[in-house]
Amino acid sequence: MKQFDIKQAEFVTSVGQGQAYPAPLECEIAIVGRSNVGKSSLINCICNNKKLAKTSQTPGKTRLINYFLINRAFFLVDLPGYGFARASKTEQRDWGALIGDYLASGRPKHLFLLLDIRHEPSAEDRQMFEWVLYYGVPFTLIATKADKLSKSKRAVAANKAAKLLGAPPFAIPFSAEGANGREQVVDRIGQIAFDCQKQA
Ligand code: GTP
Ligand code: MG
Repeated sequence: MKQFDIKQAEFVTSVGQGQAYPAPLECEIAIVGRSNVGKSSLINCICNNKKLAKTSQTPGKTRLINYFLINRAFFLVDLPGYGFARASKTEQRDWGALIGDYLASGRPKHLFLLLDIRHEPSAEDRQMFEWVLYYGVPFTLIATKADKLSKSKRAVAANKAAKLLGAPPFAIPFSAEGANGREQVVDRIGQIAFDCQKQA
């Protein structure tokens, strides 16, 4: 069988609270995680386009639900992150409403939950994981910024982060810097897209 790859990626639209989502496609995969964990960078890396999703050193860059069309077939969705210190109570409430409504919408067929490979999952990571389980959306854990650890430590640290979250003890080690783990993430997307097709 020919191996799946991401050949084409384009920005479609941004969706804020109370705004309409684009017409659904067979498959929609969304990326959740703490602010600054590298969600937008992962999208750019796997799509081989550094300018596709906006990234920043300052947490809180992505504020809306951003839809990307992949291979003219399915959606990859970049979500705003949680847990940055400067967010006001109002901003936190807005985030909760936007993400809560999205998860409850039944649109995401799969979630990528990103964890920083260097840190224990935070209370907010746990809360996010609870939401993922509550809404019953299938998920894959990805441990980002793997380049911050030596190669020999990455798999153990990634799996430990998953275990500490209370999930099955496996996470894909990933680095947007060195594109490490890109193939694994792209393969996973291929499988998910294939499963969506079968279920349609
Ligand atoms: P929000 O939009 O605020 O939720 O953040 P985000 O999760 O989209 O993070 P973003 O992709 O904007 O990246 C945040 C910062 O981390 C940027 O300075 C990136 O360059 C950096 N970064 C992302 N991925 C990696 C990685 O794999 N390795 C390293 N060393 N830095 C990374
Ligand atoms: Mg972002």
